[in-house]
Amino acid sequence: MRLAVNIDHFATVREARGGIEPDPVHAAVIAEMAGASGIVCHLREDRRHVNDRDVRVLRDVVSTKLDLEMAAAPEIITIALEVVPDLVTIVPEKREELTTEGGLAVAGHETQYSELTQRFHERGIEVSLFIEPEASQIEAAAACGVDIIELHTGTYANARSQAARDIQLERIRIASRLAQEAGLVVTAGHGLDLRNIAAITLIPEIEEVSIGHALVSRAMFVGLEQAVREFVLAVS
Ligand code: PXP
Repeated sequence: MRLAVNIDHFATVREARGGIEPDPVHAAVIAEMAGASGIVCHLREDRRHVNDRDVRVLRDVVSTKLDLEMAAAPEIITIALEVVPDLVTIVPEKREELTTEGGLAVAGHETQYSELTQRFHERGIEVSLFIEPEASQIEAAAACGVDIIELHTGTYANARSQAARDIQLERIRIASRLAQEAGLVVTAGHGLDLRNIAAITLIPEIEEVSIGHALVSRAMFVGLEQAVREFVLAVS
């Protein structure tokens, strides 16, 4: 399983002072050198962490794979089509949320996401949809012609009891199988850490995980390079 590192939190710390440090671009370079297979950043409409300059510089600097997480908002779509990341991951976005709170409602909006996918494909950009581990969303994503689905693991990660965790794991297992059968590449993310990742690594269909918060938290104590190495080891 590959590890994609979300570097948004480096930009969050920078924005706390409004200066230039820490630079999320430096974080991307260190993460790649420590074994990350990809770099993820979320350009939010309110630019609360990563900004337009970061995305453009990251495009030049990232040598593995740049995944631009984004809402399907006209302004952000325009930037993505200009910058040409390797991959865009479409997520729902609410201004008041602290982080992405759930999967995208693709079912019922197939026309919108098919058209958007086509626009990105014309620029050579792969498309991933961040969705709940539900059959209806997977079928809708496949119908849109996307390349990848990222399964939302937040409900699994937040489960308080083993029984609740097991129920969520089973949903993720079933969804992963369904998605692979539908010809989609399967990835997963949200709320994953060094403990709860173990069960996810046992799901063979999941090719990559996207991790931010727990990895950056760990990096505060052991340094980014060491934290990335620990997570790479945990997923391999
Ligand atoms: N995947 C998606 C689509 C996300 O929105 C996020 C959060 O930015 C992540 C993965 C990473 O989640 P976390 O920061 O909890 O590891």
